[in-house]
Amino acid sequence: MNKIFIIGYMFAGKTTYGRQLANKLLMPFIDLDKLVEQHCEKTIQEIFEEQGELYFRQQEHNLLIKLCEDDNPSVISCGGGTPCFYENLEIMKRYGKVIYLRTPLNTIISRAKKERQNRPVLSGISDYELNNFITKHFNERESYYLQADLIYDSQSITNLQK
Ligand code: S3P
Repeated sequence: MNKIFIIGYMFAGKTTYGRQLANKLLMPFIDLDKLVEQHCEKTIQEIFEEQGELYFRQQEHNLLIKLCEDDNPSVISCGGGTPCFYENLEIMKRYGKVIYLRTPLNTIISRAKKERQNRPVLSGISDYELNNFITKHFNERESYYLQADLIYDSQSITNLQK
């Protein structure tokens, strides 16, 4: 039990918070999305386009297991879908503590409007549909996120760098 996993919806701020937490705890920081990209030598966007989401989910799952099996402590920022596929959530809970970084839906939607070009899950959704799509998708996924060991409200977290 030497790992901390940060989970939450896209645009919750998992990478920023995870990096700050790792610095504070003097632990290495790992971004699972980056690990998949390095392993596949492609961007997430390219993996989704060329091999499809299922292939991405399998790579994400395999790399999560590999990470869990090494003994090094680390803070790991997961992708928004990581806890919602296969038995990833159970695996994370077995090997460490899982933190759900909870960010209000309206913040997620306004960030998504500006930054969604690198998120293949949201490609093909028009600006008009975005609000409804994210609301429904977020609500479906939150049932997984709420199974975390700890829930941190992103609005109440002060800057850990200080
Ligand atoms: C995904 C979220 C992304 C990335 C991939 C799929 C998702 O990570 O793993 O695009 O299904 O929610 P972030 O949550 O870091 O954006």
